[in-house]
Amino acid sequence: MTSNRKDEHLHFARILPICKSSDFDLINLIHQSIPKYNLNDIDLTTSYADKTFSSPIYINAMTGGSKSSKVINQKLSILARELNLPMAIGSASILLKDKTNLDSFKIVRKENPNGFIMANLGAEHPLSHIEEIVDLLEADAIQIHLNAMQELLMPEGSKEFSNWQNNLSNLIQNTKVPIIIKEVGFGMSKETIQTLINLGAKTIDIAGFGGTNFAAIENSRSKNPILDFNSWGISTAKSLLESKPYMNKADILASGGITSPIQALKALILGAKGVGLAGYILHEIDHHSIENVINNLAQFEKAIKFSMLSLNAKNLDELRHVPIVLNTELINWCKQRNIELNYFNHL
Ligand code: FNR
Repeated sequence: MTSNRKDEHLHFARILPICKSSDFDLINLIHQSIPKYNLNDIDLTTSYADKTFSSPIYINAMTGGSKSSKVINQKLSILARELNLPMAIGSASILLKDKTNLDSFKIVRKENPNGFIMANLGAEHPLSHIEEIVDLLEADAIQIHLNAMQELLMPEGSKEFSNWQNNLSNLIQNTKVPIIIKEVGFGMSKETIQTLINLGAKTIDIAGFGGTNFAAIENSRSKNPILDFNSWGISTAKSLLESKPYMNKADILASGGITSPIQALKALILGAKGVGLAGYILHEIDHHSIENVINNLAQFEKAIKFSMLSLNAKNLDELRHVPIVLNTELINWCKQRNIELNYFNHL
């Protein structure tokens, strides 16, 4: 990963359009007119990766490794500190070869000395790399990203992945800090989730299709784009349906195209323990002052609480049991994918 590739990722993530429609639109909420609770009763506390958090929102992995990414990581870490949100830093693979821009990563711990910070590397890295980066960045956890489709489309990307399962097994068994296995925006099938659980994964971010699109980003960087893949992947809502049968075996996190409190709420209703925001946050810090972004994210959390009160759910556990109506496309998806509808006992 070179520093100008990191800047190209930022550039195209900023200019490429994000899907207007979302499969979250296919989930209908059931408003309750007589609330059981007061707003002060509503609690957003959640837990995953062996930790309890006051909010289900986290800032997902984006950048590091270039001058401009230092400015971004400084803003993101101030946001994380002021709102007490977990924050993932972008892939640190560049640091294993070139530490010129180490400060663009270390700024995160510097600005947020007590925050929950996740480092990030790809699934091909050995345990020694994980340990080096976790120590170097003083991280509390490590995200290991699965990005085969991005690598295939990336002009300089890897084309070999058959060692991932063995490597993941070793990392999951031996990494000293909590490990979160995450996609990068292509979503996860139940087969993938089952494989990860068989390997011992306890925290999985399904990072679904519908938000930042790394096929479109890498196609925009490539001289030989394969545009068909710009629509490749499983949406975040459908990836959550896919993960439903496994939610008692691992903590499932949702990210991928989540840009509104109601989308975040629906992900939580489908069983996500946390909701990761990347593209949305990047847009926010690009277009607003830090003070305004802090205010906007506080509003985002307040809107989730308003919704929970109106659905008669005082915490995330009750929220996972509120009644919903899935549109036929999602019912059909579950039927053809053999996902028991009684997992959605609120149907
Ligand atoms: C990313 N993402 C990402 N993911 C990862 O695991 N390692 C990384 O280094 C990066 N880099 C990166 C750069 C930029 C500019 C963006 C916008 C995103 C993927 C990110 O964490 C997330 O999984 C996807 O972006 C889907 O979420 P959003 O962006 O739709 O909220």
